[in-house]
Amino acid sequence: MAYGLPYGMASRNFALCALIVVFLYTSLGQTPPKSEVLPEFLALLENHTVTQGRDVSFTCVVNHLQSYKVAWIKSDSRAILAIHTHMVAHNPRLSVTHNGHNTWKLHVTNVQPNDSGTYMCQVNTDPMRSQTGHMKVVIPPDIMDLDNTADMLTTKENGDLLLRCRATGNPEPVVIWRREDGRNITLRNENSVKRTRTFEGEQLHLRGIQRQEMGSYLCIASNGVPPSVSKRYYVNVRFKPLIKVSNQLVAAPVDSDVLLQCYVESSPKALNTWYRNNGVKLLADEKHDISEVTINDYAYQLNLTVRHLDKSDFGTYTCSAENAFGKMEGSIRLQELQISKPTTVSTRNTETIEKHTWHKQTEKKGKKHSYVLDKESDLIPKNVGHTTPMSRRNLSSALPNIANKSRISAFPAPAPAPAHSAPTQLGAQKPPFNGVKSLRDSRLCHVGLVVIVLMILIHD
Ligand SMILES: *[C@@H]1O[C@H](CO)[C@@H](O)[C@H](O)[C@H]1NC(C)=O
Ligand SMILES: *[C@@H]1O[C@H](CO)[C@@H](O)[C@H](O)[C@H]1NC(C)=O
Ligand SMILES: *[C@@H]1O[C@H](CO)[C@@H](O)[C@H](O)[C@H]1NC(C)=O
Ligand SMILES: *[C@@H]1O[C@H](CO)[C@@H](O)[C@H](O)[C@H]1NC(C)=O
Ligand SMILES: *[C@@H]1O[C@H](CO)[C@@H](O)[C@H](O)[C@H]1NC(C)=O
Ligand SMILES: *[C@@H]1O[C@H](CO)[C@@H](O)[C@H](O)[C@H]1NC(C)=O
Repeated sequence: MAYGLPYGMASRNFALCALIVVFLYTSLGQTPPKSEVLPEFLALLENHTVTQGRDVSFTCVVNHLQSYKVAWIKSDSRAILAIHTHMVAHNPRLSVTHNGHNTWKLHVTNVQPNDSGTYMCQVNTDPMRSQTGHMKVVIPPDIMDLDNTADMLTTKENGDLLLRCRATGNPEPVVIWRREDGRNITLRNENSVKRTRTFEGEQLHLRGIQRQEMGSYLCIASNGVPPSVSKRYYVNVRFKPLIKVSNQLVAAPVDSDVLLQCYVESSPKALNTWYRNNGVKLLADEKHDISEVTINDYAYQLNLTVRHLDKSDFGTYTCSAENAFGKMEGSIRLQELQISKPTTVSTRNTETIEKHTWHKQTEKKGKKHSYVLDKESDLIPKNVGHTTPMSRRNLSSALPNIANKSRISAFPAPAPAPAHSAPTQLGAQKPPFNGVKSLRDSRLCHVGLVVIVLMILIHD
């Protein structure tokens, strides 16, 4: 008991002292002299639109703060984040700094979607003073992998495919589709076909797919927050090979090189072979040059060059393309071309007719020769009585064809096509050759006459 009183007195004194201190603190802190100016904000709190993962900070500038305190509050959750430089919220991504003067900053690092909302900078006057700023967290688009959709989609021709592209992001991304090569997308319905450069939507339903629609398709998701993302799908269309032979009848002179061509469409790629009519498969060797040029995803050109033609090389050549869906063949008849040599002769009426009918050209590149027609008018037989009557229209219609052939150093057949081969425009070439032949006869006759006259003169 002896220590009771002194102890009790001491604690009573301490409590009294504490009360005075608290009174003094609160009265000085919260009710400043009325003459003083109240704290005021110098600038508005910013609004931020920030991409997820970035860092951002709000800046609060307060003048005349005196002993008031600046606090940061998340308005929507009413959570006090910090008072002065003391963190209240247990969030390691938040921090507050003070520049020792009038500026307080709330820093948010690695911003997350739940950081979006309204932030308040508050001063504990009575009534309190505050200002607010908004933070919007945006997320760039992303494309989700849907049930492991393969990026290679395969269908048979005329089949359907559904391409899907689910995108996430904030704001909600817009998904558009386009073809990588820039061609239009074909959209088919029961009774309509629409072609469009781009298609908007998460699903692209391709119906009745044709081979021309084969290729890469991109789905592109964008929401204004860079970067946009895209995903590539390859649409693979499968079908039986198709062969087109544009020149089924080709003529070339002995000793020349000739190019035979087949155009093939096939998917998957076909096994391509060249045959002679005797069934012998042709292999690349000194005589035969075999090559393929890819035109697009499903089409290619087959070239067969036969070099130094000899008599045994004339006949039928077959190109063949085969894949899992079937097989197709195309054939080309190669015929010998007899060439007349250019001659000049004067006729009785002293009219000079130059006949070049076929004019041999040597290309600068390579040794290949080509033969082009000099002029259309050269084809009209002059002073020659016994040629087959020909209409001019028929001849001119045959011309473009000849010009085309010349570029590939081959000829349309001069001789009438055999009965079994398909009729072509090439039949029109027959008369010029007859004309040349008859002309040659008359020239021979004239030369003979001249010689006889000369002999008579010399004899005299
Ligand atoms: C922030 O946005 C609000 C409305 O959303 C607007 O009233 C305020 O002026 C904006 N603040 C700034 C600094 O632009
Ligand atoms: C906000 O999101 C982050 C990441 O998703 C998470 O770690 C954190 O706990 C969330 N905070 C709140 C307050 O929900
Ligand atoms: C492609 O589609 C656009 C419309 O999106 C159209 O204007 C254009 O003519 C189409 N092109 C072809 C080659 O169909
Ligand atoms: C096949 O022939 C065409 C036409 O002459 C030519 O453009 C192409 O380059 C040729 N391809 C090959 C591989 O020789
Ligand atoms: C070519 O002429 C023949 C007979 O003169 C005619 O029957 C044929 O239709 C003509 N062909 C062309 C392509 O003009
Ligand atoms: C001839 O060439 C033109 C263009 O150069 C082409 O449009 C035409 O189809 C060709 N004709 C043949 C029979 O190859």
